[in-house]
Amino acid sequence: MVALGNNRPGFAILASGRGSNAVALMQAFISGFIPADLRVVLSNKPDAAVLARAREHGFPCACIPSTKRPREEHEADLLAALGQHNVQHLLLAGYMRILTPYFLERFKGSVLNIHPALLPDFPGLHAAERQWQAGRKVAGATVHLVDAGVDTGPTLLQGSLEVRGNEGPDGLAERLLNEVEHVIYPRAVRLFLDRMNDHGI
Ligand code: GRF
Repeated sequence: MVALGNNRPGFAILASGRGSNAVALMQAFISGFIPADLRVVLSNKPDAAVLARAREHGFPCACIPSTKRPREEHEADLLAALGQHNVQHLLLAGYMRILTPYFLERFKGSVLNIHPALLPDFPGLHAAERQWQAGRKVAGATVHLVDAGVDTGPTLLQGSLEVRGNEGPDGLAERLLNEVEHVIYPRAVRLFLDRMNDHGI
């Protein structure tokens, strides 16, 4: 029997936490909205909820622990797992680990990340909270290609919402997730694939 789908682009999700963006992506792979294969979900945290979410959705998953390990050793294991699963493109979804230039070179132009702010404003941690504290009337999120910087790299797609005066930082963070991040990440992956096809990659 001929295995179907082997020529389709192969993706992995890398996540460290609850995995709500990962779930939005998994659903988009399952429905066909993202016309590609999600081949594995990897976390660097053994107790990350995202691993359970992957199992529930029927995707292979594994933990490649990073704690107290030399960066090169952890990334060597990660590269091996990605190779075993025939992965060409990475989707970072709350992956709390900086990837080295050596690693990124192996997935050049093929690592996407989501950040809860309208980059280049508010890079780094607690971005939703900081948008609230800065009194922004409009807040948003960005899907971008990853380069060697922190939350730098070319933007693929952004989405925004109007900040409500009484929602507080937690309310804003929650709405950014549900109303912006979960919507734009699957769309950005589709856009990424369209561009790859346009350029014959
Ligand atoms: C999201 O806010 C994402 O933008 C940021 O990390 C958070 C991950 O949340 N990079 P979740 O695990 O996807 O729910």
